[in-house]
Amino acid sequence: MKVYITTAIFTIVLLLGAIGYKHQFWQNGSLPIDQEQHGLNEQIVINFSHVVAEDTPKGQAAIKFAELLEQKTNGRIHVIIYPNGMLYNDNNELKALQNGDVQMIAPSISKMTKAIPTWQVLDLPYLFHTDEEVEKVLNGRIGEQLLNQLNHADIKGLAFWNNGFKQMISEKNRLVRTEDFKNLKVRAMPSSVLQAQFELLDATPVTTSFDELYSEIENHGIDAQENTISNIYSKGFYKVQNHITLSNHGLLGYAVLMNEDFWNSLPQDLQEDVEEAMAEATKWNFQIAKEMNQVDLEKLKKEPNVDLTSLSVAEQKNWEKKFKPLYTSYKDEVGSVFLKEIQSELNH
Ligand code: LMR
Repeated sequence: MKVYITTAIFTIVLLLGAIGYKHQFWQNGSLPIDQEQHGLNEQIVINFSHVVAEDTPKGQAAIKFAELLEQKTNGRIHVIIYPNGMLYNDNNELKALQNGDVQMIAPSISKMTKAIPTWQVLDLPYLFHTDEEVEKVLNGRIGEQLLNQLNHADIKGLAFWNNGFKQMISEKNRLVRTEDFKNLKVRAMPSSVLQAQFELLDATPVTTSFDELYSEIENHGIDAQENTISNIYSKGFYKVQNHITLSNHGLLGYAVLMNEDFWNSLPQDLQEDVEEAMAEATKWNFQIAKEMNQVDLEKLKKEPNVDLTSLSVAEQKNWEKKFKPLYTSYKDEVGSVFLKEIQSELNH
């Protein structure tokens, strides 16, 4: 009898031990710590939130930046990336940055135009014709001046990144002639120029946050949208909107932003590391943006239900003609000086 009781108690203790070990009850919920890592207590964490998939030019550039910065600082700075709007979406990421709830975001330039109206110039359709032109402006002297506009908003601007050119994608019909847009509900990012662009085509612009876009299409809240091939492919928009027009009519670029107090709190050597890592990641971003859109386009070509079409030269001329009034009215805007500068830089 005594032997039975002792064996039973022993078995129960062993069982409890095994369950406790599996669920790590005695660790108080804290994560295991690498004791060999020096200065863990002084490690600085950058939480970097963005809304797109990891497998996109922005998602990849964020990862590249994180790797470069950790290398350069020997692990003194650790960057944690939150993709796919898992922390914040279009509507609340800027507030989260300003409040210091995250240290970095990279919203599209269009979404920043309410805060920085001079950036509207970059939304003008057919302002750029090649990726090289985009890089020359965003990554050069004019880009620097545009980034300096953030001084009024207490945000540290680190760089502009590129995704590529936006294309049109629609559920019901191909969008080739300018009349094809008539009475359609077209999703536009919150930018006056983009709203006006669709109004000129007799369509109704609808502002939908990127994270709600897929369900909004499924619920027929919008008929069409403009986006890059990499976003169309990575978010599967082509499954619910299968007519894609390669129109290359507008730029999807990003402003890479840091909370200003956080930036000011970094010692000078770490600020230099951030700048260096950002310069390298930016160069790399411009390179892969082009490649990723090309690779995803090839994948879309293989999708049996996707109807892909390109604009002929004459069709593109018609679109450009239709958008001309945007340029005329833009001449009266505060930042119109940037339009002249960009046009002369690109010899347009
Ligand atoms: C969009 O809202 O369509 C884009 O700005 C998303 C992104 O960040 O590329």
